Amino acid sequence: MARKRMLFSFLLLFSILLTACSAKTSGVDSPEFDQAQSEFIEELNIENIYASLNELTKNPRVAGTSSEMRAAAFLTVQLKAEGYEVAVQPFDFERYVIPESHGLIVEGFAGPLSPAPFQYSVDGNVDGQLVDAGYGLKKDYKKIDVKGKIALVAVDKTAFSELVLLASEVGAKAILLYFPDELEIDKWTLGKEHFKEFIPALALTYDDGAKLIELVKNGSPVNAAVKIKGARIDKVASQNLIATKHPTSELNDDIILIGAHYDSVDEAPGASDNASGTAVVLELARMFKSVPTSKEIRFLFFGAEEEGLHGSEKYVSALTKDEIKRSAAMFNLDMVGSADAGDLAIQTIDGADNTVTKAASKANEALNGDPIETDFGDRSDHTPFHNAGIDAALFIYDPVEEWYHTPEDTIEKLSKDRLVNVAKIVGTSVFELTFSGIIEE
Ligand code: BES
Ligand code: ZN
Repeated sequence: MARKRMLFSFLLLFSILLTACSAKTSGVDSPEFDQAQSEFIEELNIENIYASLNELTKNPRVAGTSSEMRAAAFLTVQLKAEGYEVAVQPFDFERYVIPESHGLIVEGFAGPLSPAPFQYSVDGNVDGQLVDAGYGLKKDYKKIDVKGKIALVAVDKTAFSELVLLASEVGAKAILLYFPDELEIDKWTLGKEHFKEFIPALALTYDDGAKLIELVKNGSPVNAAVKIKGARIDKVASQNLIATKHPTSELNDDIILIGAHYDSVDEAPGASDNASGTAVVLELARMFKSVPTSKEIRFLFFGAEEEGLHGSEKYVSALTKDEIKRSAAMFNLDMVGSADAGDLAIQTIDGADNTVTKAASKANEALNGDPIETDFGDRSDHTPFHNAGIDAALFIYDPVEEWYHTPEDTIEKLSKDRLVNVAKIVGTSVFELTFSGIIEE
């Protein structure tokens, strides 16, 4: 027993000595650090990024479709091949589907009417007396009774959703919004979401509205029927992917996050938006796998960004308080390769600097000679992180290209140099933030 213990102690001492000989500690201002950092950046391989881009842009990757799922499967296989365990985080979200048909009939009105539907309106098949409800504001409804009737409202400055909700509150069965002359009536939305209190709503041109007001003012009650059909809310399933690199020698329990959304809008191959960010994050995951790091790094691939940041919202809402506290920086890459967009911008929700922007600006100075000023921007997955109190920023070439969200968003429109530039800036920043201080000999 005693001999065994002695042998064990000897082995322990031997292994400590061995470790001490094969590695030495170094700080971020040392020549060893510079050497390790440039060796790390040299690992960047644009061919890998293009291989991913080719695969990802074969089809649009609309949330909830089999092609979004295929993209997730492709990313999972790639990450696993690099030795990562991949956690799949499934989630559901609600998708509003616009009505397929709509109609308006007004008794005693001979001419044609050409109403238009609204995104987020509800279905309905209602009839009732048509009433002039002025601007559809609270003070208008003090003078006019619209209970069980159809309100005819002139659009002025109030949000459409508010007008619909106000009419609903006072018991109107449906609402017709007629627009000021200069406004097109098509392709409007009642805001950003669907409310169950909404009543059926249709848009009318100023001309149509004015004619109906005439008719209503003529005296005898005018009845109308409003029909909206096919609006519905679908439950859609999507998923996030999470690959984690645990620290090789832990300096502290900080977590550094690097993320990109991999879904696209309908009919767009989504090369710039956002196969570009996805492919760069995947390449960074490969590069980081083989370097010693002192902090946890999480590589995040979000689903369903295009329909309301659902993936990142889900990811952040599932974090524990402790994980949020430990999350020191979130780098969000969205549209990082377009040849025809503006300069590289780093955007935060409040336009203020934070851990991410400071690290990236310093990296840009080292790589390109200038710091980058931080801009304001909230149109991507860094938003939920910021709202949870995590330092986060978006990397994007801004202003974005003309064919953003169109079928023209193809791989040929990307620039190798621009992709490499962002990969280097983010890679350099994260390398510095997670440097282990240990240089392998
Ligand atoms: N990649 C864009 C973000 C973007 C586009 C930022 C143009 C700046 C300029 C992103 O995928 C997107 O389209 N976001 C939506 C918002 C989201 C909450 C649905 C957008 O900006 O319309
Ligand atoms: Zn995007």
